[in-house]
Amino acid sequence: MAIISNPKTLDLNDIQGMVVRGYGKLLETAYFLLEVNDAKSAKAWMHDILPLIDSADVSNHSEKTLHLAFTPKGLNALGMDEKNQASFPVPFREGVATEDRSRILGDYGENAPNKWRWGANDGKLHMVLIFHAKDKAAMSTFLDEERNRLAKAGGISIIKEMKGYLRPDNKEPFGFHDGISQPMIKGSGRPGPENDLIATGEFLMGHKNEHDQYPYSPLLETDQGNSALLKDDAAGSGKKDLGHNGTFMVFRQMEQHVDDFWEYMNDKTKNEDGSSNEDAKIKLAAKCIGRWPSGASLVNFPDKDPGGDLDNDDFGYADKDPDGLRCPYGSHLRRNNPRDAFRWYDKKQSLKVTKRHRIIRRGRTYEEKVSGRDKDEIGLHFICFNANLELQFEFIQHAWANNNQLRHLSNDIDIIIGVPPEGNPNNEKGQFTIQAEPVNQYVDSWKRFVTIRGGDYFFFPSISVINYLTTI
Ligand code: HEM
Repeated sequence: MAIISNPKTLDLNDIQGMVVRGYGKLLETAYFLLEVNDAKSAKAWMHDILPLIDSADVSNHSEKTLHLAFTPKGLNALGMDEKNQASFPVPFREGVATEDRSRILGDYGENAPNKWRWGANDGKLHMVLIFHAKDKAAMSTFLDEERNRLAKAGGISIIKEMKGYLRPDNKEPFGFHDGISQPMIKGSGRPGPENDLIATGEFLMGHKNEHDQYPYSPLLETDQGNSALLKDDAAGSGKKDLGHNGTFMVFRQMEQHVDDFWEYMNDKTKNEDGSSNEDAKIKLAAKCIGRWPSGASLVNFPDKDPGGDLDNDDFGYADKDPDGLRCPYGSHLRRNNPRDAFRWYDKKQSLKVTKRHRIIRRGRTYEEKVSGRDKDEIGLHFICFNANLELQFEFIQHAWANNNQLRHLSNDIDIIIGVPPEGNPNNEKGQFTIQAEPVNQYVDSWKRFVTIRGGDYFFFPSISVINYLTTI
């Protein structure tokens, strides 16, 4: 495989920057969860911050950025006509916390939405304002400025403030380099490995997807506001497209039980005399994730973490690791993107299928004080973008991470984010299979290392659609 070019054909000025950029140099993040109390003032405020919203074009905001996303209740609170609201796709309109969605995502038991601290279709959560800044001091000034702006505008309350950060080495709380495998949106101008070049419409509505079709997009069913700001529906309905250059954002607060994770890895790999075996412990954890802590791939470096900067994404499984002897079939990485070795398909067909189930991940670490606990909670503010929630995020979580019937595996689920089918007694003991010769190895009795603490689905519109929303 090779790194290929990806000529810039999209109107990057119209796309909110986070879809294309990870802002690796802006280490601090914050989120304001907002409630609209008065639509007119809220729209005036949106108009005011419009120039600050970062676009995907060469960033004008190298020191700080703002992004804005909406829940269905937010669109309603701004006064969007009911028919126009109804044109949004069902998963977004229904929200993340329906009974069916909880079942397929594994949001039951400890993960149940009624235990979450925020989101879960909370009627008051209307918008999220996302901040990035280069350091803590810059973030503090930025938040003060925007708090003042909100107070002055009136008509919007901050219902919750949350903070996150990116470690300079980009490691998530279990200690693994994250954010490496990312799709490249065709037309974004960003080059990358051929496997990662994905049709624009998988991430941005109004463009063709990997099925060579336009993804479902919300349309203007009733004329409202300044519709001249909207693009025509590229699929040819003759209507205006509210989705053009926009996408959907999944936001989930995922607590990580870091001590339990490493205690488990340690317990399973102890020497006969009971002492710890550091190398074996790290290797087992790497087999579960599918990369070494440095981010190096197990396919390219099966025995030992080479360290350094060998964390590229330019690999497949079909040629070097068809039997999962290097990177286990059930590892987090291989499950959630089987790349060129999915089921019985040949390489080409496999890539064709897996490219239809990709997400752009923008997760960052958070730490939060929780009353009654002596240690701060730590975890991931998981954020991903996709044009189709059902075929991308939900498919990955349900059909790959939670699936205990995956080919070559017997009853395993994703050891990082998997949730066993409710009421399946065989899963109580927890099993993870490591393909090996002459026989497979198994570890079992793992506890869940991640718990969901909050979350919701958001519409992440283009910059011109945010402008349009100020006119409805
Ligand atoms: C606390 C929760 C999570 C942790 C600790 C975690 C950790 C990681 C790590 C360390 C990587 C490897 C780095 C990379 O390739 O970028 C990775 C990759 C990935 N994760 Fe997660 N992750 C979490 C949640 C999720 C969720 C909720 C999903 C989707 C449902 C997901 C989907 C993926 C995908 C698609 C990849 C890239 C696979 C590939 O393209 O090879 N992760 N994750």
